[in-house]
Amino acid sequence: MTGQTYILDMKSISKAFFGTAVLSNANFNVRPGELHALMGENGAGKSTLMKIIMGIYTRDKGEILFEGRPVDIRGAREALNMGVSMIHQELNPLLEMTVAENIFVGREKRKKGTPFLDRRALNRDTLALLKEYNMDKRITPAMKMKALNIAQIQMIEIIKAISYNAKLIIMDEPTSSLTANETEELFKTINILKKRGVGIIYISHRIEEVIYLADRVSVLRDGAMVGCFEKKEINHDKIISLMVGRELSGGYPQSTAQKGNVVLEVKHLTRRGVFEDVSFQVRAGEILGLAGLVGAGRSEVMRALVGYDKFDSGEVYLNGSPVRIKNPRDAKKNLISMAPEDRKALGLIMCRNVKENIALKNEKQFSRMGFLNHVKERRLCNKKAEEMTVKMNSIADIVINLSGGNQQKVVLTKCLMSKPKVIILDEPTRGIDVGAKFSIYNMMTTLVSQGIAIIMISSEMPELIGMSDRILVMSNGKIRGEYNDKNKISQEAILKLALEGV
Ligand SMILES: Nc1ncnc2c1ncn2[C@@H]1O[C@H](COP(=O)(O)OP(=O)(O)OP(=O)(O)O)[C@@H](O)[C@H]1O
Ligand SMILES: [Mg+2]
Repeated sequence: MTGQTYILDMKSISKAFFGTAVLSNANFNVRPGELHALMGENGAGKSTLMKIIMGIYTRDKGEILFEGRPVDIRGAREALNMGVSMIHQELNPLLEMTVAENIFVGREKRKKGTPFLDRRALNRDTLALLKEYNMDKRITPAMKMKALNIAQIQMIEIIKAISYNAKLIIMDEPTSSLTANETEELFKTINILKKRGVGIIYISHRIEEVIYLADRVSVLRDGAMVGCFEKKEINHDKIISLMVGRELSGGYPQSTAQKGNVVLEVKHLTRRGVFEDVSFQVRAGEILGLAGLVGAGRSEVMRALVGYDKFDSGEVYLNGSPVRIKNPRDAKKNLISMAPEDRKALGLIMCRNVKENIALKNEKQFSRMGFLNHVKERRLCNKKAEEMTVKMNSIADIVINLSGGNQQKVVLTKCLMSKPKVIILDEPTRGIDVGAKFSIYNMMTTLVSQGIAIIMISSEMPELIGMSDRILVMSNGKIRGEYNDKNKISQEAILKLALEGV
């Protein structure tokens, strides 16, 4: 096949950051109308390869052909004009802009003969686009981007790409924050795009999704391409062994921890309009799963419990005694720690390094009589980050330079550093590769064997069922039921409860 049949053809791309090779001689290409999935472990170099296409990073070596011609794209605007668009892993749209402004930024219509924006034309054209994709019911052209949820922002970015006649759309973990319905909508749009001849590069850690969608799959390991495979050549186990470089023994680790006394009890917790009359207990050594659809109120209950948000009524008991938790500091004092779902807003300071992030507000662990022991701080932070398999050069790496999955691992490391008695994990494996997922599961079983109680929110049903001793199902702000016999928990039954009152 000649280069002419590819929309995009990347040849022998290499890239290093501060002397560390991140990509070495990687080849990657896309045909018109196909979805080419790119897979690999956290830190393998997937997002970096995509940012090189967009000109966000410059390559050290190699060649990029777009429709057969060598190109050097220098940023998102130039890429859009050429017909290339990227939906980023960390969505970063201009939140203060309206939907219409965002879609037409840089090519706004002006009132005839004046430099003034023709807002009416802008909104009219935007509305036409929204209508075409059935999105005009909930989104108006004049809405601010910040009023939209992640799925809607993604759709607007896709519509924007289409309005530029995109020939190539890059999607970096597009489904990691979507509900099942939103995911289905996205898949429909992907099919429409493919039929129009648009090529799609699709990055995801969800293997089932990739097998379902992909025409071809390429796998990166430590910055080198392991191979490129046609749909018929791939299956679940093969993808895993290509990514990880070895077979993974399947199955969830089984906790044999003795269940102790009730550590945490919540009675009638209510926040008007958000959640109502939520009561539950967790024992030492127990993993309590919280099931429900995105938006059921699970994160909200947990956020209130650790003092990120307020609640209107209800009580919290720790080891049988009532406690008042008004802010995250109170939670920490009571040895309750949470790894939040939103790692950017609540979890991490992106411009600080790994050590500072882990150590922040955990200073007690490294201090004696009010004096911080810097050596101990460095040693402990390093040890914990390594246990969590954070891929980094050293703990002096700035967090924003870590890959998405590795940022998530830093959030978890920080959460554990405070030596909690109760740990709340909100979507702990989002964006985490298969291999690292199992290290997180193993870590969870180790923690409960030490008598720690874990509450886990997860939208991945197999993981929730595999790891939990007991599962509560929430929908619409209320607890709808409980499963306490591990062997009798089924996905269907949970889903049925999760849809109650929706
Ligand atoms: N600006 C940067 N400065 C230094 N190192 C960087 C920078 N950007 C990325 N890296 C490093 O390059 C490597 C590859 O990162 P990349 O984001 O491409 O991984 P990824 O395959 O997308 O992983 P994930 O699945 O976790 O998103 C990582 O080790 C990361 O720390
Ligand atoms: Mg990435």
